[in-house]
Amino acid sequence: MTLIELQQQVDTIKNQLDQDLAVSRPSDLSSKYLGKKGLFNQLAKEIAMVEADQRKDAGQLLNQLKQELEQKLSATEDSQQQTWVDLTMPGEQPAVGHLHPVTQAIEEITHIFERIGFTKVSYPEVDWDWYAFESLNMPPSHPARDEWETFFINQKDTTQSVEYDSNNPRKRHPSLVGGKLVLTPHTSNGQVREMERLGKPPIRMINIARCYRRQQDATHTPMFHQFEGLVIDKGITIQHLKGTLDYFAQEFYGPGTKSRIRPFHFQFTEPSFEVDFSCHICGGTGYLANEQKCRFCKSGWHEVGGAGMVHPNVLKAGNIDPEEYTGFAFGWGVERTYTLKEGLKIDDIRLLYSGDLRFLEQF
Ligand code: DAH
Repeated sequence: MTLIELQQQVDTIKNQLDQDLAVSRPSDLSSKYLGKKGLFNQLAKEIAMVEADQRKDAGQLLNQLKQELEQKLSATEDSQQQTWVDLTMPGEQPAVGHLHPVTQAIEEITHIFERIGFTKVSYPEVDWDWYAFESLNMPPSHPARDEWETFFINQKDTTQSVEYDSNNPRKRHPSLVGGKLVLTPHTSNGQVREMERLGKPPIRMINIARCYRRQQDATHTPMFHQFEGLVIDKGITIQHLKGTLDYFAQEFYGPGTKSRIRPFHFQFTEPSFEVDFSCHICGGTGYLANEQKCRFCKSGWHEVGGAGMVHPNVLKAGNIDPEEYTGFAFGWGVERTYTLKEGLKIDDIRLLYSGDLRFLEQF
């Protein structure tokens, strides 16, 4: 036998071992390779057939083979022992996530209003200028738009020139004259959409959707959520609005929380109000037990959003007769409302959108 032939046989044994190890336990293989009548000993006997001057090299080849066989059989034994699985052991519980805190807040707000007969809807976050502004008593170029006219969609403005007529705002409805599209800066675009969906009152809507504004700081994000309430029926008054706000305050923030409305101006309501909720830390007094000023609210109240009695022009835009029906509306941010909850202590609203599990896992 030549040295080359011996090398070939050594390689064959090594390959065979690799294949065997893929399907068998090393302890079941050791006699096949290293036993008395094992493959190694069989090959070793053949050394006698090697030319005398090549025996030394042949011996070395065999030594290397033996070492390698021993090493592989014991190394694989170790690693197989480590990955050995007892199928009767109880399984490892996979990590279970939970709903994002903003989704949790949306669900809670939805249920609170559903309990008093509101219907939850979600109107488009990209909408016609007409629903976001014009139907809300903000004709083209009206200065009241300045605060909100932010992200228009890069799409051709197809509006055909038809005069704005406050007695009949529907003359310029996008289905008749075309229009331009905007990322909605508020959920008030849902008001006339809901009037159109139902055709006539009674309407009790809670619209929760994404909104967009050019803003970014500890209490604002460019994308956020708002919820918008709209109630229209015969004989609806400010008292119904106030009662609804007080109900929400108690349900969302806990018993004893009060609401307060202050005169303000919105184009789509008349009269209009800003809405505050009493601070749960100082109980609405503005002072703590040690007579120090409450640093959370500074005044006893937190401003959350706007509200008012639906403007007659908005009812007209929704094809509802303002002589027959009245209504109230309110709207504000989900994130802001949520972060005022007792014990949350979220001092930067942007954390909600950071995608940081260390933060999110706390909710
Ligand atoms: N849309 C207003 C905003 O984003 C909030 C608002 C004010 C909504 C008065 C209303 C309302 O429905 O009646 O600032």
